[in-house]
Amino acid sequence: MVFRNVLDKIERISRSPDIVRNRFRRMIGRLGIDVNYSNGVSFYPHTVCLIPTLRCNLDCIMCGLRENLAVPSRLPTGTMFNHERTREEIIVISDRIAEIRPNVLIGGGEPTLYPYLPDIIERISKRHGLFSGIMTNGLLLAELMESLIDAGLIMVYVSIDGIGEVFDRVRGKGNFERFESALKQSWRIKSRKGSKIPFFTAVYTITPDNYFDIPRTAKWLVSLGITKLVIQHPVKFSKEMIERHNSSVKNAYDHIHWTWGGSLDMRSIDPKLLGSSIAEAKKILSPYGKNAFEEKPDWSRWGYESYYFGNMPPPVKRRVCQLFWRMTFIYPDGSVMPSLFCYFHTMGNLLDNTLGEIWNNEAYRFLRSRVKSNGWFKICDNCVFPHVSNI
Ligand SMILES: C[S@@+](CC[C@H](N)C(=O)[O-])C[C@H]1O[C@@H](n2cnc3c(N)ncnc32)[C@H](O)[C@@H]1O
Ligand code: SF4
Repeated sequence: MVFRNVLDKIERISRSPDIVRNRFRRMIGRLGIDVNYSNGVSFYPHTVCLIPTLRCNLDCIMCGLRENLAVPSRLPTGTMFNHERTREEIIVISDRIAEIRPNVLIGGGEPTLYPYLPDIIERISKRHGLFSGIMTNGLLLAELMESLIDAGLIMVYVSIDGIGEVFDRVRGKGNFERFESALKQSWRIKSRKGSKIPFFTAVYTITPDNYFDIPRTAKWLVSLGITKLVIQHPVKFSKEMIERHNSSVKNAYDHIHWTWGGSLDMRSIDPKLLGSSIAEAKKILSPYGKNAFEEKPDWSRWGYESYYFGNMPPPVKRRVCQLFWRMTFIYPDGSVMPSLFCYFHTMGNLLDNTLGEIWNNEAYRFLRSRVKSNGWFKICDNCVFPHVSNI
């Protein structure tokens, strides 16, 4: 099994040699040279997250988009949030991202609702030879699988938040059945086409409704042939934190702002049970290699009480959050946004400029220098990004 994972890795890298380049970018990034010494100028990001739509076909209990965006009727009209681009426009946007050769993750909302998803993948992976991954709830995957394989998709990050009724509590009644059927059918299509790609990684977001169900889910995934699982701890911003953040950003930067509005009440989580649930799942996946199980952020060394009930554990990097130096997010209208959570001002639009031009423009340098001199936003104390080692 370990051997098969190594082969999969070689296969992934050979399909997109830039994966190695971006690992290197990430490694150099960890030294923090640009964060420490430059005047807001940064190396190119190793990963770009493209969000072609913020619409969604679900309304999951923990989702930050829930109260704001995922429900179409609540989308603010005529804005970067809902101004989705045409096929021609998204091809220009994809080409302009590809110019700086990052890994490209396509998220949402639910990206499978965007009609030109296969066109984006075709451009990123087939035309430019870059790593492409989609983050999806999986419900529409089977319908698209054939065209995604043909387009050269390398990775599917599929969300799974438990089995059966546990999944349904998080993602809505009746949806596990739809999910299971779509996933199995997608797997069959991949086998029928004799294709090695896309690889599958399951992503499990912890909530009070599912934290105990990880081992059962891990076994179920292995029985399907999916042997990589990422545990994602939830973003936990309270309404008060968000309000405080909004007024401080407005005062300091005089920019528009909007933050991830979802917040869960974690008080029913038993940290000991969460710890043993995670440890057991890790054991189930251990025969499949050391990368088969990942926890983001890895709280296991601090204990789970800290994050869920007390103070945040110390961050991986003590300087500033490096998100503005390492990744960027492209919104549905092509706006380049530095963060999903804390800073909602567009740095430029990919229909006007290339990503290379925008990445170190005046707006981006202003933001990085300001964060460097003023330190983190207050809300960053509660954000998971500074604690994830591979940002
Ligand atoms: C926002 S969704 C978008 C992609 C797709 N709709 C899906 O569900 O996978 C991306 C990931 O964020 C996770 N997520 C949702 N709410 C979250 C929260 N409050 N904290 C951390 N992750 C969250 C989801 O479970 C999913 O794995
Ligand atoms: S987690 Fe994904 S599927 Fe669920 S509401 Fe959010 S965007 Fe939609």
